[in-house]
Amino acid sequence: MTEARTDTPVRGSTPPESGDRSTLTLAQVLEHPALGPHDRMPTRYRGPRRVGGDGWTGFATRLERGEELSLIRGLTAANRRVLDVGGGIGELARTVAARIGHCTTIEPHAQLVESMQGGTTSDAVSVFAGTAEDLPFPDNSFDAVYGAWVLPFVDDLDKAVTEMVRVCDPNHPESKIVLINGGAGSEVLKLFNEVCAPVSGDPYDHHGYLLATAARLLAEHGFDAFSLHRTEASVRFDEESRAERAATAAAVLTGFWYETHPKAEDVRSALEAALDHHFSARPHAIGDQAAILVARPGS
Ligand SMILES: C[S@@+](CC[C@H](N)C(=O)[O-])C[C@H]1O[C@@H](n2cnc3c(N)ncnc32)[C@H](O)[C@@H]1O
Repeated sequence: MTEARTDTPVRGSTPPESGDRSTLTLAQVLEHPALGPHDRMPTRYRGPRRVGGDGWTGFATRLERGEELSLIRGLTAANRRVLDVGGGIGELARTVAARIGHCTTIEPHAQLVESMQGGTTSDAVSVFAGTAEDLPFPDNSFDAVYGAWVLPFVDDLDKAVTEMVRVCDPNHPESKIVLINGGAGSEVLKLFNEVCAPVSGDPYDHHGYLLATAARLLAEHGFDAFSLHRTEASVRFDEESRAERAATAAAVLTGFWYETHPKAEDVRSALEAALDHHFSARPHAIGDQAAILVARPGS
């Protein structure tokens, strides 16, 4: 289990993000442009997308998301017991641990758990195998819980969010649940929805819907003081020729989203054509813009 931690928030050097209490109501969150496109809002969860261990690693190692990391570091700077749900290769957990001394992460994918346990993380990160829907921690074990880019992959969205609430101590002065998803206008999501989904037959992947559903559940459980943030990030491709960048990026995105899918080759080929066009306007990067929902217990 996690190391024993005190409940005392870290004091003295709280960066502005952590102290930013400008609050939105649930209604304001639900109509926020960051949760768009509102005209495509689905009525129910599309079900999980699958992520492969090699596929995520290939994408994550090209991802430049300094702004997102800074925001998470700032938001958790005054916390002591932080849980990272769906840790991937542990980049965010390491960032939090570097700031406050420790972070716990939980991840279901055996290959990713192994890679986090096998040297890429230090003792400052405790790694657990498990899912968001069934967190192996007692009630109120943490004072901050965050899930970055994890909601599109869970089997049961409601259960994942209510489990995050269960393990987050609402009485801690810095209590918060933070959810990071794709923001409206994300170039990566646009590629998935406009290029891949029509080929693979996948339903539209609406990240605003995931945040809206989570916000409703969080509010029901008393986490109804919200703030929303947007960050810029990009997946970088530095290969010399545009054709090479398009081919590489198509392989990386296909590996991430369709590693074992029967239509993987059709998707890869559609992506390569779309990316050749994309790189004519933005030569070395695909935008991975995020919307970040922070929910604190209301007064
Ligand atoms: C897109 S990656 C994001 C990884 C990490 N949070 C980050 O931002 O670097 C999604 C992660 O969620 C994990 N995941 C998938 N299903 C999950 C579930 N039911 N509960 C928790 N994590 C899950 C995947 O294995 C993968 O590591």
